[in-house]
Amino acid sequence: MTISKVGILGSGIMGSGIAEVAAAAGSLVVVRSRSQTTAESMLAGLEKSLARQVERDKRTVDDATAIRSRVSATTSIADLSDCDLVIESVVEEIGIKRALFNELDRVVQHGAILATNTSTLSVIDLAMETSRPDQVCGLHFFNPAPAMSLVEIVRPLCASDATIDAVHSFALECGKDPVVVKDQAGFVVNALLFPYLNNAVRLLEQGVATKEGIDTAMKGGCGFPMGPFALLDLVGLDTSLAILDALYAEFADPNFAPVPLLRRMVSAGQFGKKSGSGFYDYRR
Ligand SMILES: NC(=O)c1ccc[n+]([C@@H]2O[C@H](COP(=O)([O-])OP(=O)(O)OC[C@H]3O[C@@H](n4cnc5c(N)ncnc54)[C@H](O)[C@@H]3O)[C@@H](O)[C@H]2O)c1
Repeated sequence: MTISKVGILGSGIMGSGIAEVAAAAGSLVVVRSRSQTTAESMLAGLEKSLARQVERDKRTVDDATAIRSRVSATTSIADLSDCDLVIESVVEEIGIKRALFNELDRVVQHGAILATNTSTLSVIDLAMETSRPDQVCGLHFFNPAPAMSLVEIVRPLCASDATIDAVHSFALECGKDPVVVKDQAGFVVNALLFPYLNNAVRLLEQGVATKEGIDTAMKGGCGFPMGPFALLDLVGLDTSLAILDALYAEFADPNFAPVPLLRRMVSAGQFGKKSGSGFYDYRR
């Protein structure tokens, strides 16, 4: 099947980035935001990102104009009805995602693929909310979506080969390196990454080193491009907490049990870069 029109549900960090990736690959893209204000800020963010790429000679002005012209925003889920693929990328909460899959199934044309960008949640649970479980899968992009090459294609038990083949081709057209993974919490990357991030917070709580010291240690000692606290702030502490909660619920492994400091910071509204403060301060 050909994917020429892509719908995206959610215009946060990931929804916005995936919209840019899909439009750059030549698809028409409709992004559904919950409010006009967030829809406009997503479009403004896209324009800023494209302008930056032109400034850095990574794109021509014509290319940037063409990409921008392929993206539109809406506040109505009904506007996703004629999409060939819809990628859900809203907050990491199973109840909200389930309700949206149920609604998407009723609204989006028969034959279209419904995908989720979830980091950890069960894809089969979302598939079973629909009348087309064979056409549901995970399409897990990484942050920032335009820069990161990996896409995990999550194959739930009921997905058809045609669905997996179609999203695999789509990911390649987006210039990504897809890896097909089993529908199990955390898939590959987050199952390995989050115990590490969680244990970094534990070391900080235990006073083993400062957050700057731990970040410097992991960059200099392991060759990582950023330390665990800069990465947690980039991912979002609310999203990170939701990922750890989902991993712990699936495996009951103590390494996944969120360290209390992380939960307290989320309660305090310290979500990281997106809220202006997390382990570091971004308000200056
Ligand atoms: N942040 C990351 O590094 C990252 C990486 C890969 C995947 N993800 C996944 O992508 C998804 C989105 O994460 P994000 O980082 O973009 O989060 P975000 O906080 O930046 O955006 C969340 C979006 O969800 C919307 N939303 C919140 N409640 C909603 C509701 N009740 N109904 C409809 N929309 C609602 C918000 O308006 C916003 O557009 C999550 O499933 C997350 O696990 C995140």
